[in-house]
Amino acid sequence: MKTVQIEDLLKEMTLTEKIAQLTQLTPQFFSGASSDGEITGPMAELGLKAEDLKNIGSVLGTHTAEEVMKIQEAYLKTNRLGIPLVFMADVIHGYRTIFPIPLAIGATWNADLAQKVAEISAIEASEAGVHVTFSPMVDLVRDPRWGRVMESTGEDAYLNSYFARAFVKGYQGEHGELATNFDRVAACVKHFAAYGAAEAGREYNTVDTSVRELYQNYLPAYQAAIEAGVLLVMTAFNTVDGIPATGNQWLMQDVLRKDLGFTGLVISDWGAVGELINHGVAENSKEAAYQSIQAGVDLEMMTSCYLQNLEALVMENHVQIEQIDAAVLAVLNLKNALGLFEDPYRGLKTVAPTKKLRTMSDNHRRVAREVAAESVVLLKNKNYALPLRKEQKIAVVGPLAESQDVLGAWSWIGEQTESHHLADGLKMALPNVVSVGWQQNQQVTAEELAASRTIAHDADIVVVALGESSESSGEAASLATIRLPVEQEQFLAELADLGKPVVTVVFGGRPLDLSDISFHSTALVMAWFPGTEAGTGIADVLSGNVSPSGKLPMSFPVTTGQVPVYYNHLKTGRPAHVGNNEQKYISRYLDIPNEPLYDFGFGLSYTTFAYSNVKQSHHKITYQEQLTFEVTVTNTGKLAGKETVQLYLEDVVATVARPVKELRRFEKIYLEAGESQVVTFNLTLEDLCYYQRNLDFKADLGNFNVYLGGSSQAEKVGSFELI
Ligand code: GLC
Repeated sequence: MKTVQIEDLLKEMTLTEKIAQLTQLTPQFFSGASSDGEITGPMAELGLKAEDLKNIGSVLGTHTAEEVMKIQEAYLKTNRLGIPLVFMADVIHGYRTIFPIPLAIGATWNADLAQKVAEISAIEASEAGVHVTFSPMVDLVRDPRWGRVMESTGEDAYLNSYFARAFVKGYQGEHGELATNFDRVAACVKHFAAYGAAEAGREYNTVDTSVRELYQNYLPAYQAAIEAGVLLVMTAFNTVDGIPATGNQWLMQDVLRKDLGFTGLVISDWGAVGELINHGVAENSKEAAYQSIQAGVDLEMMTSCYLQNLEALVMENHVQIEQIDAAVLAVLNLKNALGLFEDPYRGLKTVAPTKKLRTMSDNHRRVAREVAAESVVLLKNKNYALPLRKEQKIAVVGPLAESQDVLGAWSWIGEQTESHHLADGLKMALPNVVSVGWQQNQQVTAEELAASRTIAHDADIVVVALGESSESSGEAASLATIRLPVEQEQFLAELADLGKPVVTVVFGGRPLDLSDISFHSTALVMAWFPGTEAGTGIADVLSGNVSPSGKLPMSFPVTTGQVPVYYNHLKTGRPAHVGNNEQKYISRYLDIPNEPLYDFGFGLSYTTFAYSNVKQSHHKITYQEQLTFEVTVTNTGKLAGKETVQLYLEDVVATVARPVKELRRFEKIYLEAGESQVVTFNLTLEDLCYYQRNLDFKADLGNFNVYLGGSSQAEKVGSFELI
């Protein structure tokens, strides 16, 4: 439809029809629904009338194309103006072919792969009638006690922005493509804003960050998604500066609309409008509706404050009809961008029947396997225990050795039974592999333990699969202790006493306290939740078919008590450093080091890399000049491998305290054994800017230090002055 037609349609709508467009419900409210939808939040008594259902604007949580067609057909028979429903769902890391969790995708430092994941997810979601995905989640995270760190790409704003752009491009394609290319879906960036900063990592808890910290670290990835053209933004459950995001006019209007320039549709999170009452900022649902519409929330998910109150608020002149019209236009424009007025089924009835379903195709599984392998992070490899060798007798044991609980949270309609577990993968990759597993959430039996000991005893090398269950991460899954169950640690310690190499593979949705696990492991691999092709992807790495290249997108603490620990921390007035270890009055602990167990950006390879011959184009630059850094990277080992070359900057003196270093560039390169490559980074003035005391985004004159290497522990290689 043309814009003028949309505006004409709006003029024909009654106030009741307009207000109903601003509500989103799960399928069970609609005739023809065959599922209850994915219940991901409190189901409040919605008090709906049958009449309401003729005009509701949107559905979330359908599972199949048949269900979507049934609901849409029945709905269009009753909607007076023939305005189609828009269908949305949480397609977070795949629809039916499940890819590694987003935190694992973050470990690939590979935007092309992330974009491919989004493209395939969009194809499979579209084949099932989904029009919009509630993804990417770009919340910056520093606290692994929070279960939803699995959904993010980690602790760094620059890396998160890099992935936010890739996901949006993969889901939506080029600008305007959605109306005709039904292999694409609209994307919804979330959760605006700073949901990842929930105090103590406790789900739905208070967020209290400074405005400057919000702009400096929490907003950049949302901004990147908006610049990439994301069509929807979802509000966060939490408060920002004491005001819940969903009713926070400053955050949703001044920041999101004015500063970040967002012009699309704002949808509340599940029940977040009604929850303004629980927050204690709204007396009742009428007040909640008022605050949310004033904040510019266009679509209310799974509460009915708008339905129950907006008409009265307009009649009482507390809300202007122009505000209602603006929200309705946001919904109609989204439907128009998706081509729904021309085809309410987006090809399900016309195009899909002529095409072979690509869902779960071999090609999709191949990509899932590639991403799973590239997301694996090698944390330890003493005496080159890895890669495993064909001539070795290999025992695979432990609670996740034969477990198919490898999809992770938010794996939508992915089937665990369609996944490859670790033992499967290793048996396909190597000739002499035997395995004993047990159900992770069940007590291991004496027989299983005995059988594990027997095959471990007879093997040359033991692979131990440990980890958390997928239920212990994701939404509503905060943990006060991020250590593996004591029986897993004891099992590993016993195997370590056999005096043969032990390779530990850890599955999990968050950085875990692996101090004890690392101590007892000859080699240690973080596999995350790798998805449908978990076993094959991990086996590709352990067997040496793929050299590990994952780099941590989030720091791993030495213990829960060290949290939050992140690489780009401030210096403090009494920084600890090598020279003052014996001093008391320094910013440090009495019982643990300041440094995490494994740093942001860290990950080993089966080979080694040397950095040399660093060159910089200037030692002094003006505002107009660009600074170039070159470094020669050499593969000094015997095997080919990929290295992610990382460049960090330190702003030595600024108007506010600045981090010890910040990631500003990186490049992932492939080198054959003995091969060298010159990597070049061009820095611009924007790389030197930060939010100053008055919130101006500017650079200071003065000195900057440059660090280059394969992790955030990169060495200082140079400095320059902005003059
Ligand atoms: C959930 C989540 C949000 C999700 C929504 C719809 O509570 O917070 O990320 O998209 O509800 O399922």
